[in-house]
Amino acid sequence: MRALFLTLALSSAAMAAEPLPIIPQPRSVDLADGSCKLSGDIGISAADSLKNEAAYLGARLKNGLGLAVSLDRGGPIKLSIAPGLPPEGYRLRITPQGVAIEGGDSAGLFYGIQTLLQLLPVQVYGSYSPKQGMLEIPIVAIEDSPAFPWRGLHLDSARHFMPKVFVMKLLDLMAIHKLNRLHWHLVDSEGWRLEIKKYPKLTQVGQDQPAWYPGEDPTDHSIKAGFKYGSFHGGGFYTQDDVREIVAHAAKLHIEIMPEIEFPAHAMAMFTAYPEFSTTGKVPVVKSNHSPDLINVDEKSINFLKDILDETMALFPGKWIHFGGDEAPKGQWKQSEFVQKRIKELGLKSEDELQSWLFGQMAAHVAKKGKVAVGWEEITHGFLPEGAVVMPWLSMDTAAKVANSGHPVILCPVGPLYFDSYQTTDPTDNQALYKGPFTLRAVYQFNCDLNNVAADKRGNIWGAQAQLWTELMPKPEHVEYQAFPRSAALAEALWTTADRKDFKSFQQRLVRHVERLDVMKVNYRKLEAGAPISWSKETISPGRKDLVLEGPVGLDLQPGAYEATPGYQDGGFGLWFDRIELVADGKVIASDAHRGFTGSNPKDAVYKLVVETAVPKGSKVTLRAFADSHEGTDSTGEIGFRKVK
Ligand code: ACM
Repeated sequence: MRALFLTLALSSAAMAAEPLPIIPQPRSVDLADGSCKLSGDIGISAADSLKNEAAYLGARLKNGLGLAVSLDRGGPIKLSIAPGLPPEGYRLRITPQGVAIEGGDSAGLFYGIQTLLQLLPVQVYGSYSPKQGMLEIPIVAIEDSPAFPWRGLHLDSARHFMPKVFVMKLLDLMAIHKLNRLHWHLVDSEGWRLEIKKYPKLTQVGQDQPAWYPGEDPTDHSIKAGFKYGSFHGGGFYTQDDVREIVAHAAKLHIEIMPEIEFPAHAMAMFTAYPEFSTTGKVPVVKSNHSPDLINVDEKSINFLKDILDETMALFPGKWIHFGGDEAPKGQWKQSEFVQKRIKELGLKSEDELQSWLFGQMAAHVAKKGKVAVGWEEITHGFLPEGAVVMPWLSMDTAAKVANSGHPVILCPVGPLYFDSYQTTDPTDNQALYKGPFTLRAVYQFNCDLNNVAADKRGNIWGAQAQLWTELMPKPEHVEYQAFPRSAALAEALWTTADRKDFKSFQQRLVRHVERLDVMKVNYRKLEAGAPISWSKETISPGRKDLVLEGPVGLDLQPGAYEATPGYQDGGFGLWFDRIELVADGKVIASDAHRGFTGSNPKDAVYKLVVETAVPKGSKVTLRAFADSHEGTDSTGEIGFRKVK
C-alpha cells in the first residue's frame, strides 16, 4: 500500500506565518511587532468631502463594537486623499499613535477603511455590541490598488423578485469584498420589476401569481426543481422610490448599479402588458426561455422603449445601461412583412443587423444623457455600435476578438462565473442547478488575462462579474448560498494581481472571513475544513485498487456529523472510492465504507463521518481515502470535508 501524503497549508510552519485575514489580498503588507491601542472617545478626522466615508467607519465602530466615536474634532484616525495614488488605491498605516488612511480617491479611501475593518474584531460587522472598550490593531503598513476596474455581481430580480432589504444587504456584502458594480437584471419574460410610471401595466402583469412554486424550492431536496420558463412569478416590483433608496445606498458604498432593460427578446411580461409593441401585436403564448416574441421596430415601439429608458436613466445616475440582447430567435422578424420592409429601407442585410441597428438607435438615445450601452455577447452578431461594451458569456474566444477590435469587454463566462451552478458534486449540495461544479477553487483561479488578447489591447478587458440568475433560486437565502463564499474568491481573482494569488493562503484567510459572514447573517455554503485533499493524473498511479490519499484536516473536530465528498472536476472518467475515514493521532475515529463514484454522474460519493467525542487540541488529524484507480486515472478532483450539523 502506498500512501500519498499531500502536504497542505495548515502545517505548523504555515500556522506560524498565518496571513492577516484580509480578503482580497493587498498588493503589499508590511507587518511589524506591536499594536496600536485606541480607547475613550475615538476621533476620526476627515475633510468635508470625505464625510460619507468617515460616517461609514464611525457607524461600524459604534454599532458593531460599541465604541464612542467623534467625527468632528480630529483624532487618532486620519482619513485623507493622496493624489499620487492610483484610482481606487489606498495606503493604510497603523502606528502606535493611530491610524492613517489615504485614498487615491474617495473610493480608494473607502477600500482602505474596508481593510482596516478586517483587522478589527468581527463584531464590527454587526449591530450594537456593548463589549469593546478598547481597540487593538496590529502595526502594519499596507499599499493597495485593484488589478481590474470592473469587479461585479449580477442579480436577477426578474425571475424571482428579490426584496429591497436583500438588495441592500447584497450591496453591503459587495462593499466588504471591494466589489464595485451591480448589474441588476430587472426585466425578463417571467416578471417586470421596475415601476415605469408611463406604462403602469408592466408591473401589474403576473402580480397575482405565486412568487415561487413549491416544486422550485431548492431547500426541499425530495422535490426536483422544475422551473417553468415563461410562467409569471408575481410577488413584487420596485417602486421608483425603492430604486432611489437602493441607488443612494449603493453610492455610499462606492458601488455603481447598472440597470438592465432587455430587448428585443426575453420580453413576454412586456408584451403581455402591451402586446401592441410586439412584432405580432399579440399576447405571447409560447412559454419558453427562448420565447419567440420580439419587439417591433415601428416608430411607436421604438418610442415606447425610449420612454422606458428615459425613466430608467432618471433613476440610475451611473454611466452604464444594459440592453440585454441575448437569446433573441429571429423567426418573428423573418415572418413579418413590415420588419422585412424596414430591413430593406435601412439598407441592412439580415435580422442580426436589424438587432444591431436597434441597439445603435437606443445607444445613441442614451448617449445624449452621457450614458454608455452594454449588451450580452450576442450583440456582436451583426455589427457593434461604436463604443458599445460587450459581456461575453459563451465564448472567451469571442471575448478576445472583441477586445482586440477595440471594444471594452467584461467577462461573464458560464464556467465558472454563473453562480446559479452547483459548487461540488455532492448531491445534497445541488440546490440550484444549472451546471457545475464550479468550485470555490475554480472561481479563485479564474484569470481575466486572456492570452490571445494583444498586449496593447489588454486594457479593453475591464474585469469580470459573476451572475446570479434566479430561475431556480426563489429566495434570498438561496442566492446567498450560491454567492458566498464564491464571491470572496471572485473578489480576490479581480482585485489581487496574479503574482499575489495563492489559494492555500486564501483558504486560511477565509476561515476568519466567514466569521464576518456569520455576523452579517449570511447563509453561505459552509467551508470545507482546512484544505481538502486533491488529486490529479500527476498524483495518482494507474491500475491500483488500493490507492490511499491522505491530507490534514485544518479544524478542531467537535462531536457531530461531518461529510467527506470526493468530487471530480475534469478528465475522461471519475475515480471510485471504497472507504473514507478520519484518523486522529494514528487512530481511526470515524469511517464510512461503501463504494462511491466521482464523475460527471456521481453515485453515492458522500461519506458520512460521525465524530463521537471531541478530539483534543493539538492532535494530528487527517482524512484518509481509499480509491480504486483502475479507471479515472486522467481525472482531477478534490475531497471536500465539512461539518454538517
Ligand atoms: C444569458 O445567460 N442568457 C446571458
